Amino acid sequence: MKELNFNRHRRLRGSANLRSMVRETSLHKEDFIYPIFVVEGENVKNEISSMPGVFQFSMDNLGTELDEVVDLGIPSVILFGVPIEKDAVGTQAYHDHGITQEAIRFAKNRHPELVVIADTCLCQYTDHGHCGVIEEGVILNDESLDLLARTAVSQAKAGADIIAPSNMMDGFVAAIRYGLDEAGFDNTPIMSYGVKYSSAYYGPFREAAHSTPQFGDRKTYQMDPANRMEALRETASDVQEGADFMIVKPALSYLDIIREVRDNFDIPIVAYNVSGEYAMVKAAAANGWIDEKKIVLETLLSMKRAGADIVMTYHAKDAARWLEGKE
Ligand code: PBG
Ligand code: ZN
Repeated sequence: MKELNFNRHRRLRGSANLRSMVRETSLHKEDFIYPIFVVEGENVKNEISSMPGVFQFSMDNLGTELDEVVDLGIPSVILFGVPIEKDAVGTQAYHDHGITQEAIRFAKNRHPELVVIADTCLCQYTDHGHCGVIEEGVILNDESLDLLARTAVSQAKAGADIIAPSNMMDGFVAAIRYGLDEAGFDNTPIMSYGVKYSSAYYGPFREAAHSTPQFGDRKTYQMDPANRMEALRETASDVQEGADFMIVKPALSYLDIIREVRDNFDIPIVAYNVSGEYAMVKAAAANGWIDEKKIVLETLLSMKRAGADIVMTYHAKDAARWLEGKE
């Protein structure tokens, strides 16, 4: 044995306590943001078929869901309003009594300390399902900015603690920052979904939020999955325009991008563990093919290890329970 020369890495893995002392990354319930879908109507609690355990709630059922999140010690939710009425310019997105604004008001009223994030986009509110306004089949950039700023201001007025624009028009952080400041919301942070890839992993979400584009795809505004350096250009622009947080989305197939952004910028990074990632785990778990609890905790941990400070995930409630040692 003496003549062999090698390192004994196993020395630090000998017991549970020793392993916990040298553990580099940890996962806490405080790391989570829980997404909630809110629909118009009464007494609705619709499970999304491709997302077992995730529901669309009407306002009268929202309270118990929020209570559960708060009781579990999850500090924040992001709300996705799904209106019945849609039109070409997404009027319901910036209506002071739109579904999202009402849901924000309700959530802040019930749990003032809960950090309520508003998703700021037009696709749930437009009849064509695109994230901006359209002329002759083209998604217009600058013309969409004004509507996004109006949406953000109406959400801030309703009490949103953070504005999270997800539409990928150029200049959306600048336009929203300007709009918020002008309306007196200079203390409201912007969590930019500026590194958002054009991804098949959003499929189940589009069923939940009724936001499938009615023609074409989102490739002229969302990023090409083949690109890495572009994520740095997007982040640089958003930081310069005043973003306070940066979201990388999806997360699991883009851990390298999370790391890249982490290594180049010092703002808080959010990993969005999206609907398709959730659906795959739930499907495999339902078949008994994987151990759901272990897979979920390992997956969420990997997002932290890649460099995320915060994880937006549909697994948040389960993971918070598991981290507390509950089943
Ligand atoms: C809307 C939006 C989408 C998601 C969050 N906000 C869908 C899309 O861009 O097509 C996806 C979230 C998920 O899949 O969990 N702009
Ligand atoms: Zn959108």
